[in-house]
Amino acid sequence: MSYLKIDHITKSFGNNKVLTDISIDFEKGEIHSLIGENGAGKSTLMKIIGGIYQADSGQILMEGKPVRMHDPIEAYGCGIGIVHQELSIAGNMTAAQNVFVNHEPVKWLGFIDWKKLYADAAAEFDKIGANIDPRAIAGTLSVGMQQMIEISKVLSKDVNVLILDEPTSALSDNEIENLFRILLELKKMGKLIIFISHKLNEITRISDKVSVLRDGTCTGTLDREHMEVQTIIRMMVGRNIDSLYPPKAKCRSNKKALSAEHISRTGKFSDLSFDICYGEIVGMFGLVGAGRTECAFSVFGADKIDEGQIYLEGKPVSFKNPAQAIKEGVCYLSEDRKAIGLFVDMTVKENTVAACLKSVCRHGQFLDENKAKEKTEGYIRELDIHPDHCLDYKVRNLSGGNQQKVLFAKWLAADPRILIVDEPTRGVDVGAKAMIHHILRKLADAGMAVWMISSELPEILGVSDKVIVMHEGRCKGILENEDLTEEDVMKTAFREEAEHE
Ligand SMILES: Nc1ncnc2c1ncn2[C@@H]1O[C@H](COP(=O)(O)OP(=O)(O)OP(=O)(O)O)[C@@H](O)[C@H]1O
Ligand SMILES: [Mg+2]
Repeated sequence: MSYLKIDHITKSFGNNKVLTDISIDFEKGEIHSLIGENGAGKSTLMKIIGGIYQADSGQILMEGKPVRMHDPIEAYGCGIGIVHQELSIAGNMTAAQNVFVNHEPVKWLGFIDWKKLYADAAAEFDKIGANIDPRAIAGTLSVGMQQMIEISKVLSKDVNVLILDEPTSALSDNEIENLFRILLELKKMGKLIIFISHKLNEITRISDKVSVLRDGTCTGTLDREHMEVQTIIRMMVGRNIDSLYPPKAKCRSNKKALSAEHISRTGKFSDLSFDICYGEIVGMFGLVGAGRTECAFSVFGADKIDEGQIYLEGKPVSFKNPAQAIKEGVCYLSEDRKAIGLFVDMTVKENTVAACLKSVCRHGQFLDENKAKEKTEGYIRELDIHPDHCLDYKVRNLSGGNQQKVLFAKWLAADPRILIVDEPTRGVDVGAKAMIHHILRKLADAGMAVWMISSELPEILGVSDKVIVMHEGRCKGILENEDLTEEDVMKTAFREEAEHE
């Protein structure tokens, strides 16, 4: 008898059948991963276990007994806690308040014991090796830190089943190591951990078992012995994916699109100089906290620079706000799609045309529904957004990876000359990731200047023509990507540290 059993679960949203007859057995003391393409149904299945959605048929059994979770509180009652894919941080509360929301420590008479609240939160953060000030306002923290707060929030409740839905997509390598250490400890304590990720190396590294979902069905469960990357991919997509990265630039021009000369922003980055030419993809690598997003923000007019000068085709510019940048053909695809990228309560169509309203309006004023529809449908096809009839779906109801594709559609629709993409493949599956890389190359080959920020070194090396290496707010070197290795880049990032040793 298994500890947690999913037994013939089926679920539809309207006429969209999302899960079909899924059965999986989970045991205590194991890390059991779930993998599958964007929209395969992973999050939906977890939300059913967590009491957020109800299955249409089938049941969940714990130690052989059927349980019914009508809401997350009942799920917690059964010892099940979920760290969701889309963060739900209360931005105006402190980090500590977020951890203990709805179960704050109280003094007699029911007043919140603030001293204990902050001390307990500090202990929780310590436990997972997160360097977070419990009194910091959560909204001002990085996405990675917010993710760590979400994890602490669930761990503080002492659960037996811990579900983590793509917890590592916003974490730095260090934070991931800490998280894995904790997961292994929890496993030793006999807890069940269900772990969702698109990163195959993470899956094969820490899981005891992996179950694969494809189009709402379970195509099988592998144990450690049989966990080979190609086998998993085949079970996910029904084919092998070989050539992961596109070829390098065909026609790099020397025409500078965007240049930065000695730009600085106090406390964020200092003295950065670089050029991005038409026809090339320039990768900007750095660990989380290296100042890359901050630099892009300043170039895009979302923040200011304190010193230095930015040039567009050689002409000095200083955008007061993003609208000015967009008008000049500079677009920025954010790493934080929910907070500043998409309007999740609006439809796919509304989001797609949001940054190019002029081109879909009649007489510059009235939205031309047909044009907007045509444009959006074009991107749904080109980017293979699922489900393919999602034109009038609220973005909130798309799977995480498909939301990322809508974000892409939105900026492509704005027809930029210079496209800045910040962690462009966050949360997308292996197939879609390769597709996004190929699209970036196609755009560059068509003459666009692409600036790609990423903390994934294989992605940087696989896609870019030139690599800007950042570390702690400074540029440590700009390398041509010819036979460049991961080691070359890391050595450049940590050159001075190595010299001081
Ligand atoms: N509340 C909802 N209303 C309507 N459709 C939904 C809702 N939630 C999910 N869906 C649909 O269910 C399908 C599965 O989505 P789900 O989020 O479970 O995928 P996923 O495997 O987690 O994908 P990803 O890797 O992108 O996170 C998608 O087609 C999605 O559009
Ligand atoms: Mg998901």
